[in-house]
Amino acid sequence: MAQEHVQTEVQTAAQRLPRHVAIIMDGNGRWANARGLPRSLGHREGVKAVRRVVEACVNLHIETLTLFAFSSENWRRPRQEVGLLMDLFVRTLKKEVNRLDRNGVRMRFIGDRSAFDQRLQSLMTAAEEQTGTNDQLNLVIAVNYGGRWDVTQATRRLAQRVENGELRADDIDAGLIESELCSADLPEPDLFIRTGGEQRISNYLIWQLAYTELYFTDLLWPSFDDTALQQALTFFASRQRRFGRTGDQVEQAGSA
Ligand code: IPE
Ligand code: IPE
Ligand code: MG
Repeated sequence: MAQEHVQTEVQTAAQRLPRHVAIIMDGNGRWANARGLPRSLGHREGVKAVRRVVEACVNLHIETLTLFAFSSENWRRPRQEVGLLMDLFVRTLKKEVNRLDRNGVRMRFIGDRSAFDQRLQSLMTAAEEQTGTNDQLNLVIAVNYGGRWDVTQATRRLAQRVENGELRADDIDAGLIESELCSADLPEPDLFIRTGGEQRISNYLIWQLAYTELYFTDLLWPSFDDTALQQALTFFASRQRRFGRTGDQVEQAGSA
């Protein structure tokens, strides 16, 4: 009997695992500053946290993990820091793709790639091609990504179709807009995590986060580990997702 009870609890917890986790990895600079180190070391340490979280998500059988690596506003940082982030990005890609591939991770980059140099664009395309048939985890990396950019590019494509006479303005609905977003074939994020203590979206997946559970932690990204992820997952499992309905309705549907 007790065993049965435990089993049910485990199953419930498993059912409540998010399919899609979207993270704003914030606090690398402050992590370094607090230790008297240059910001660059904070970013390097941040890569280690990425590795930990990706591995944990593979082990947990989470379907999709989206990481905000560089926003469309991050170009405003000092040239030297931007250059350094680009170098780190190139080096990390070269170093990690084979291992990710072996672990069954499928990689995808979202954002406006045209701003990156050719070498980086080729590395991104190669990583997507190499890992394209993997099915253990969709790892989506948002680079030069902005939610407003995403909605804008989707709108422009739809407007083009209207202009071509393929579509009427009246046909445009939420589903059609979604189908043109970078995340078109991915489930919506169930759980959003932001480290670093700020409680804002910073132009991340503004459309896609409409019904996502939001979790903020003061932990700086390089300190984010399995335990911290587990805490976020526990928070998620405790939320009742109502999508506009009443709590009673959701409970009834759950027990039906
Ligand atoms: C996040 O850490 C990494 C990127 C934005 C690339 P930050 O670099 O923003 O770190 P803080 O917020 O300055 O501590
Ligand atoms: C958001 O962090 C972008 C990434 C983590 C890549 P920022 O540090 O750039 O956000 P703001 O500027 O504090 O809002
Ligand atoms: Mg920051």
